[in-house]
Amino acid sequence: MNTISSVDDLKATVKTLKGQGKSVGLVPTMGALHEGHLSLVTRCRAENDVVVVSVFVNPTQFNNKEDLKTYPRTEEADKKLLEAAGCDIVFMPCAEEIYPEPDNRIFKLGKVAEVMEGAMRPGHFNGVAQIVSKLFDFVSPDRAYFGEKDFQQIAVIRSMIASEGYKLEIVSCPIIREADGLAKSSRNVRLTPEMRKIAPNIARILSESCNFAKSNSVAATQQYVIDSINAFDGMEVEYYQIVDGISLKEVNDWKDSSYIVGCITVYCGDVRLIDNIAYLK
Ligand code: PAJ
Repeated sequence: MNTISSVDDLKATVKTLKGQGKSVGLVPTMGALHEGHLSLVTRCRAENDVVVVSVFVNPTQFNNKEDLKTYPRTEEADKKLLEAAGCDIVFMPCAEEIYPEPDNRIFKLGKVAEVMEGAMRPGHFNGVAQIVSKLFDFVSPDRAYFGEKDFQQIAVIRSMIASEGYKLEIVSCPIIREADGLAKSSRNVRLTPEMRKIAPNIARILSESCNFAKSNSVAATQQYVIDSINAFDGMEVEYYQIVDGISLKEVNDWKDSSYIVGCITVYCGDVRLIDNIAYLK
């Protein structure tokens, strides 16, 4: 595995490989890698000649300075995991390498970036678009891999690709969970032992809500999820929205769409967790 920290090295290395006719897959990450990230790398390994993984805690997507400061950084462990997962190139730049000057680009991301996370974290998705577009420019991947854990992020990236005219395939990969159902996340290590014990109730209640939904309205299902989670001491739902899986517009009736997803964020103590579930017909 080749570890690269400079943009020029990355571009030159990928150019040589592409010149040999090799297909290139990209997995963007912010490190602190777990099996969720590694599932993307494994899929990328299976579908491309060359696997590039970026590990960069992107400052422009954090609207909370404290969250940026406390974001876990585990570079050496990440490299070992990536090597074992079959990564060819890990790109680990410093912030000055990516942003030698401030990135003032404002992307046209449309409605999908304005709701839910977009409403709660102003500027977050523009920051994601800034880093992901730079990575696409550096690597020109044939395919890029993203996890459905960040369901809205995938919709935003598809919108960015359409508006910027990138030609690549976005591959969305299922959520990887702990044995007790909690969606794997780099933030889980920040949960207190008490919160770690109750956090799996988020996934359990989401999953149970699929049954509840069979004989109840969208509004009742939304309320059921919010009330059931808020009943736990220390957990507070920030939002639970039941939306069309493509437009991310809220649905009023189960018949409104053939692809309906419920997206949630919950404060578990002071750790903000996200998860989602598809309501299958
Ligand atoms: P990060 O949170 O490190 O996640 C990197 C990728 O791993 C994302 O596509 C995310 O959806 C996926 N992922 C995380 N946990 C997962 C899980 N439990 N199951 C499946 N996939 C999972 O998302 C980002 O970084 C950043 O916003 C980034 C796209 C890298 C831009 O900075």
